[in-house]
Amino acid sequence: MAELDSWEDSVDDEQPAAPAAKAAAPKPMGFSFNPNASTFSFSPGASSFVPVPAAPAPAAPPAVDSVPVEPTTDIPAAEAPAAEPAPSQEIPAPVEAEQHVEAAPTDSVEVTEQAAVKSAPEPKAVEKATEAVKSMSVDPKEKKTKEKPPLETLEDQRDHMNIVFIGHVDAGKSTIGGQILYLTGGVDERTIQKYEKEAKDKNRESWYMAYIMDTNEEERAKGKTVECGRASFETSKKRYTILDAPGHKNYVPNMINGTAQADVGVLVISARKGEFETGFEKGGQTREHAQLAKTLGVAKLVVVVNKMDSVEWEQARFDEVVTKLSPFLKSCGYNVKKDVTFCPISGLTGAGIRDRVTTENAPWYGKESVFEVLDNMDPQDRPHDKPFRMPVLDKFRDMGTIIMGKSEAGIVRRGDNLVIMPNKTPIKVVTVYRDAEEVPHAMPGENIRLRVTGVEEEELSTGFVVCDGEDHCKPGVTVVDAQLAITELLDHKSLFTAGYKAVMHVHTATEEVEVVRLLCQIDPKTKKPKQQKPAFVKQGSLVICRIKVAQSIALEKFEDYPQLGRFTLRDEGKTIAIGKIVGIPEKKKAGDSETS
Ligand code: GTP
Ligand code: MG
Repeated sequence: MAELDSWEDSVDDEQPAAPAAKAAAPKPMGFSFNPNASTFSFSPGASSFVPVPAAPAPAAPPAVDSVPVEPTTDIPAAEAPAAEPAPSQEIPAPVEAEQHVEAAPTDSVEVTEQAAVKSAPEPKAVEKATEAVKSMSVDPKEKKTKEKPPLETLEDQRDHMNIVFIGHVDAGKSTIGGQILYLTGGVDERTIQKYEKEAKDKNRESWYMAYIMDTNEEERAKGKTVECGRASFETSKKRYTILDAPGHKNYVPNMINGTAQADVGVLVISARKGEFETGFEKGGQTREHAQLAKTLGVAKLVVVVNKMDSVEWEQARFDEVVTKLSPFLKSCGYNVKKDVTFCPISGLTGAGIRDRVTTENAPWYGKESVFEVLDNMDPQDRPHDKPFRMPVLDKFRDMGTIIMGKSEAGIVRRGDNLVIMPNKTPIKVVTVYRDAEEVPHAMPGENIRLRVTGVEEEELSTGFVVCDGEDHCKPGVTVVDAQLAITELLDHKSLFTAGYKAVMHVHTATEEVEVVRLLCQIDPKTKKPKQQKPAFVKQGSLVICRIKVAQSIALEKFEDYPQLGRFTLRDEGKTIAIGKIVGIPEKKKAGDSETS
């Protein structure tokens, strides 16, 4: 594995990652409600998973120019990259947009009375929305003013945090998520009893808590999360969104989707004998998840050492996990003292989650509970003053077009004129919702829904980016320069070279890519570029290369918007590299001579 602590990422130090948003599941997702969330929120994890290779076809982007690109200026090039053949000439024609199934918000999930009451639109709200849509159409002649009115004060001023549960299969992620909803009043006794019976009928008695998060049949029958579950809860200090990632290796793309939206990761480790070991060995998801989380912008980790009840709350076992994990987490780029907290818990009994573990259980611990750790984390330093960016996570039609996503930069307000990239579609914001609540504006880092005019739902795809109307992502990007850390190559493809094809996951987008050329290799020790241009590199290398994307894509340089400029490369279902975009080469005007 490449040592990542120094290539990743000076920008993070200044701007603790508000990461990219949920990457695309292989096809645009339907969504459904998690009936067990104490505060209602959408679960975009409702569609069935399609295994890798993913790469959906977003709606046709603008025609790709067949002109050459100039090299970016900011490559620490040992040698200036030579003239690039027009990369787009080989790019397959954009594929027709996939047929999107229009998802009815409540389909396929039973909704408890409580949630149903919260989610049913009131007749007045319907009228209001219809009126608002009518009065706000996109007028291309409208004068776009940069001066914005002062922000209204929001009723709920509590900070919001997205937390993702990651870790090896069966570590207890869904159980802990379910327990949190139970502890915070999102699930009542009657529902728990129902799940207990259902779990028993399926011979999965201990799984009933996980059923709170694992809402679909397949997940319950197999006891494995497939889609990233989503729910919300709140404490007196903060509002939280839980993203419950699947641990199974087949579903890593779904885990990436969820993790990309998170501010904080809860890395769940099973303390049970043998289970910690399996998760932590080479190829185990404890390793892969921790590494991906850092790449995807999760700046802080709470490592919960779960199932402590199964080892009689033995201090030696807890210490063993801490001692073995710490150097590994350091190698992923985490500052273990500053960014990582270890907590012993039992997801099944709830011990150590809301309240501190009792001295009866663990007299040796005596420190904060998981809620206390989360509540006391500093609020994210989010880029308010930057132009707005929100990768599209999902969309649907409901009295206008609704776009869901996590805002990554800038403030969005009712009435804003925005554009959707890469197609440069102008839209106007009719209503802003933060979770289910209508608000005059939303800050970066929030999970929001925008009701907009100017675009039809079927013209949108997961992976597009809603941007400020004036200052938006570059249009028509099909080539990027990126710094890669080659983490683990496949046994039968052990050389990374020009021509390597993989799938790129960047914010909510998933695209097929091909390495056009290796520009320069970086010495892992000195971090300086090496003189010789490499013909190939091996696992563990750092390399800057030019990458061609199959279809034009909206993204940013890492230094400008870390959340939209960091990505992972996967091949045959395995993460092979993590990277950041260091340059987006300018397109040359047709007829210009190649100078580089
Ligand atoms: P995937 O979604 O498949 O990755 O698994 P997961 O991490 O969500 O695990 P899940 O919550 O489904 O739990 C797996 C098994 O571990 C279930 O049988 C749980 O009852 C059990 N389990 C979870 N937490 C605890 C715990 O604190 N103590 C004990 N004894 N068992 C637990
Ligand atoms: Mg699970």
